[in-house]
Amino acid sequence: MIALGGGVPCLWLDQVDSTNDEARRRAMNGAQGPLWICARVQEKGRGRRGRQWVSKDGNLFASLLYRPVRPLSQRAQLSFVAALALHDALTHVFESLSGRLFCKWPNDLLLDGAKLAGILLESEQDWVVMGLGVNLLHAPDDSERPAISLQKATGLAIDRLDMLKALSRSTQIRVAQWEEEGFAPIREDWLARATGLGSDIVVRLEENELRGRFCGLADDGALLLRPRSLGLEGQAADPHEGMIRITAGDVFPALKGA
Ligand code: BTN
Repeated sequence: MIALGGGVPCLWLDQVDSTNDEARRRAMNGAQGPLWICARVQEKGRGRRGRQWVSKDGNLFASLLYRPVRPLSQRAQLSFVAALALHDALTHVFESLSGRLFCKWPNDLLLDGAKLAGILLESEQDWVVMGLGVNLLHAPDDSERPAISLQKATGLAIDRLDMLKALSRSTQIRVAQWEEEGFAPIREDWLARATGLGSDIVVRLEENELRGRFCGLADDGALLLRPRSLGLEGQAADPHEGMIRITAGDVFPALKGA
């Protein structure tokens, strides 16, 4: 066990199935948190929507176990808290990233338009696990969702522990802000760093796709889409705004003319 800034402990493992799974096991065994679990490699790293998260030595795999005070109904907001904390940490360590690093709904970080990091929020009973994967050295090949590593983008070798210390500090600050002030300031700061806001997007859902303009975030973090075709407006649309609220999906920029 090592201590990160602010006295938050971190269990640093050589190898694990998934740092989220280890955090979950510890929560079930009564660990109160806050507690970071990190690993050099993950054998079964997991991403959103059941995807695999390729977890090679050199990247950062970190999960924070913590027991929120705010009610269960607000927990999904924590993925925006985590994205902002990671944005804060990265731009603190690498000032040159400002203006190149953006938050992508629901919880990715894009650097120069490619995926640098992903967040997997899991929650049960009174605990949450905020799992963050950051491509420090390697980026997986994925033509549909292009990825990038910090080393490729900055030319710098990054120490994982230094990155984690910065992340732990910024997470403490953002979590405290959320616990004390609620979602409004988190939402505002996230939107100020969002990619694609006001532009045309395609949202891929489990069974179909929606097209429209990305108009903002609802109070609970749902993406607000102004549909392009009238045919979409009947589905779960907010009658006041004419917007569709989307709570889960993959976002892509709409190709011009498509
Ligand atoms: C995504 O973009 O789909 C989310 C990826 C989250 C990956 C991290 S790595 C640390 C933690 N452990 C996991 O198994 N997943 C998360």
